[in-house]
Amino acid sequence: MDFVNEDIDNYAYDHTQIEDDLLWRLELETYDQLEIPQMLTGRIEGRLLKMLAQLVEAKRIIEIGTFGGYSALSMAEALPDSGYLITCEMDPVAIQFAQRFFDESPHGKKIVLKEGPALDTLKTLTGSFDMAFIDADKENYLNYYEALLPLMRPGGLIVVDNVLWGGRVLNPQETSDHAIHRFNHRVKDDHRVEKVMLTIRDGVSLLRKR
Ligand SMILES: C[S@@+](CC[C@H](N)C(=O)[O-])C[C@H]1O[C@@H](n2cnc3c(N)ncnc32)[C@H](O)[C@@H]1O
Repeated sequence: MDFVNEDIDNYAYDHTQIEDDLLWRLELETYDQLEIPQMLTGRIEGRLLKMLAQLVEAKRIIEIGTFGGYSALSMAEALPDSGYLITCEMDPVAIQFAQRFFDESPHGKKIVLKEGPALDTLKTLTGSFDMAFIDADKENYLNYYEALLPLMRPGGLIVVDNVLWGGRVLNPQETSDHAIHRFNHRVKDDHRVEKVMLTIRDGVSLLRKR
């Protein structure tokens, strides 16, 4: 859900750096071939992720929720050749789709796609990461956060998607509504991170580890 007026949103889209042809094709094919294509982050959030990765001078990034690979490839653009991004996904259709684009991209060799439940993958990792992007099942947001925080370097950035959850955080009804609201509430009082919640797209929180 977008929280800003559609014309304003289109204006922001038109005045944001254009993605490369491969990402554009990935977006078109996502809408053609994958279920729930609206899950794709898209131009504004993708360029934001790349810029944030540049600003923290990321060399190691972890992503929870690959889907078609749009956000992974966006962040990988910012990595030096010696850097890498680990992305977690459990849907075999999405994995096959994303890997096809990683193989085609000059940045794909920096991406390691880990198949299976993300919490299992996180248990196998050791620090330290410069940036993380949480964008998978909402019920596990707090679990992802707690598993990620020890893996982040001081000053490392955790970006969290869908923190406004279509506005349902204001009046939580479903399990996922409550999960996101609980996550936001817990993070608000967590002194281990500095935080800002942005009303971009479906809500994006930036959490900087102290
Ligand atoms: C919102 S989409 C990610 C969108 C992606 N970041 C992009 O920019 O296109 C969420 C993805 O998380 C995956 N997912 C959900 N639960 C998961 C889990 N427990 N472990 C790993 N992946 C999971 C889903 O299969 C889905 O592809």
